[in-house]
Amino acid sequence: MKYVILISFLWLLAASCGRHVNAAKTGTVSVADTGQFTPGKIWNDDKAEIINAHGGGILFANNKYYWFGEKRGRSASEGVNVYSSTDLYHWKFEALALSPNYTDTTSDIAAGCVMERPKVIYNSSTHKYVMWFHLELKGKGYSAARAGVAVSDNITGPYIFLHSFRPNGNMSRDMTLFKDEDGNAYHIYSSRENYDLRIVKLTPDYLSATTEDKMLFSNHREAPALFAYNKKYYLITSGCTGWAPNKASVHEAESVWGPWTELAYNPMEGADANITFGAQSTFVLPVAGKNDRFIFIADKWNPRNLKDSRYIWLPVRFRNMQPVVQWMDEWNLSFYNTNN
Ligand code: GAL
Repeated sequence: MKYVILISFLWLLAASCGRHVNAAKTGTVSVADTGQFTPGKIWNDDKAEIINAHGGGILFANNKYYWFGEKRGRSASEGVNVYSSTDLYHWKFEALALSPNYTDTTSDIAAGCVMERPKVIYNSSTHKYVMWFHLELKGKGYSAARAGVAVSDNITGPYIFLHSFRPNGNMSRDMTLFKDEDGNAYHIYSSRENYDLRIVKLTPDYLSATTEDKMLFSNHREAPALFAYNKKYYLITSGCTGWAPNKASVHEAESVWGPWTELAYNPMEGADANITFGAQSTFVLPVAGKNDRFIFIADKWNPRNLKDSRYIWLPVRFRNMQPVVQWMDEWNLSFYNTNN
């Protein structure tokens, strides 16, 4: 018994030292240390490394959340990382889900290409995980404006790159995927030099675009994040100012095809609401097991060191059935027990 107590004591001591080492290494207490979301602060993974998953999206599968996002160096695009979590606070690094191609210089994803805003959905007919992302070809800046598609039998990959294209000939930059309750899935994308926001329905295997393709609105918007609540669809977007933050807007519709109506208020509230708290939308996550509870996810870009861009996670509230995101320095999921 004495030994059990001694070993437990030593284990606790080691664990708490580990936490302090993490905090000392980063100079900032991260979410994993506090069990709270601390928007804009450093957020480390299970190995005490900065979570490197920008412009990301999250898929809930097999009772876990999987966070896919851009792996960035200071500016380099290094593929798509995936992390997993059971509680949304603690994230385990799983893998480089999709790697640039380092051997074939003729590949669309040859090293030096840019992969942004990856999103993954599961196809229950083919039993495959399908990733779409914004692809820019090596050495061509942002002029290629293509959608890329990759597929895997396993959620954490490795994902096999299939093809890249402009859906129905339309430029495709910032994007997201949305899988509706009926199993239909859509690619929502900024087109025509980002002036138009478009939607295209995916083929039943989700691997290609159909010709059902429509312009939603032409307001010069990007960074789309689409979610469904109470029989309505909501679409949060940003303006087009590159890495610099700007004011978000929210549109509402009864069908993904529209008509989409812009709601006449800023969905962000609190300090810096006019610049989306210094960040740019990427995804709205439905919280599993909590009906109609959502987390707004945005990137606080750091163009001098993209890897160290921070994450803003905040709860979505509904006021008169309209979504609002209020700034909070810190919060946790018990927020939803007392607020809507
Ligand atoms: C933003 C876009 C980001 C990235 C950046 C490059 O407008 O949302 O995903 O492409 O431009 O400047």
